[in-house]
Amino acid sequence: MQALVDTSMAPGASMHGRDGLLSLAERYDAVRARTEALVASLGPEDMVVQSMPDASPAKWHLAHTTWFFETFLLGPNVPGYQVFDTDFAYLFNSYYEAVGPRHPRPLRGLLTRPAVPRVLAYRHHVDRHMRTLLAADLSAELQALVRLGFAHEEQHQELLVMDVQHLFAQSPLKPPFDPSWKAPEPGPSGRFRPVGGGPVRIGASDETFAFDNEGPVHTVWLEPFEIADRLVTNGQWLAFMALGGYRRPDLWLSDGWAQRQAEGWEAPLYWQHDGEAWSHMTPGGWRPVDPDAPVTHISYYEAEAFARWAGARLPTEAEWEHAMRTRNDLEQVDDVAWQWTSSAYTPYPGFRAADDAVGEYNGKFMSGQMVLRGGASVTPPGHSRVSYRNFYRHGQRWMFGGVRLARDAG
Ligand code: AVJ
Ligand code: FE
Repeated sequence: MQALVDTSMAPGASMHGRDGLLSLAERYDAVRARTEALVASLGPEDMVVQSMPDASPAKWHLAHTTWFFETFLLGPNVPGYQVFDTDFAYLFNSYYEAVGPRHPRPLRGLLTRPAVPRVLAYRHHVDRHMRTLLAADLSAELQALVRLGFAHEEQHQELLVMDVQHLFAQSPLKPPFDPSWKAPEPGPSGRFRPVGGGPVRIGASDETFAFDNEGPVHTVWLEPFEIADRLVTNGQWLAFMALGGYRRPDLWLSDGWAQRQAEGWEAPLYWQHDGEAWSHMTPGGWRPVDPDAPVTHISYYEAEAFARWAGARLPTEAEWEHAMRTRNDLEQVDDVAWQWTSSAYTPYPGFRAADDAVGEYNGKFMSGQMVLRGGASVTPPGHSRVSYRNFYRHGQRWMFGGVRLARDAG
């Protein structure tokens, strides 16, 4: 979301050294401010409605990210800290069983109270106490937890954009969330590039912040393969559609075909044909489909069927990461669309989630989901990295999921 707000990155910070020149306290202020800038164009009604069970109201994102800092940083580490409101743990706990009971996720849109001003007051209360905490000399462990809070809030910034887009797509008015939003530019060429096989090192080392699910570093054996230097475009997707891609069960996994049948998929999520051309809902509102932009809002099943149709396949996550680490001619990691891999979201060898509540962050979701790599135009700048493992269920489409093709070395 470059156009809307760009306050989260230090000047000159890179993907890998993005803590850069900013102190933790400065980064805290930047991350928190970016969230509030994101909702600046929304009215109170926009912030309450939940358009589907997977989405959350903007107001809930504002409060939940705050609850995270209050629950995991302030509560345990600030002697005598008084929670802002004893009801909020129930309302804004997302999924942490160790923290206590919670409001059911599909009912988040029924929370007309607390109203937005009280949620903002909650944010500012927690901000004040966090600033005091961050002024102290924090242990390495606490600093890591603060960085987790930043990464968490950034994940919710992206979710917030996805969720508002989904909500606004339900409106006949199709309002823009960010009128200045531009479709990402396509990559330069569109060719397969060879990558050698052998034993390769995969995963995040401990040097900079990474989520627990990105490690430990480990060795994976790869056969030689080829990977596309850019993502599949809307134009290529239109060819797939025109040639019967959504009508040919022979191209699809059985589970995917069943969902295609049940939900009547004929195109990516948000696409509609107006008799002449395809248009789609974007963060910038209702726009013509740009044939040169990377396709987004497709499920794993569609990505997988497209790859089969194209005589290719999806990369494994290890292939994707190794290719990104070793080639400099591939479309950038973090600014286009998340890329489905053929890898199930499972623990790396040696992974062990922490024993405390924060251990529930990623590890307990390692079942029934697939890994996506890269990053999207709506991902906060500097948030992703080459080892980043995003994950969604096979049929989900409201995130910015796209396709980078791979194939076995010929
Ligand atoms: C990695 C995007 C699947 O949406 O649950 C937010 C991100 N984790 N709060 C999700 C997340 C904790 C996560 N995804
Ligand atoms: Fe969360």
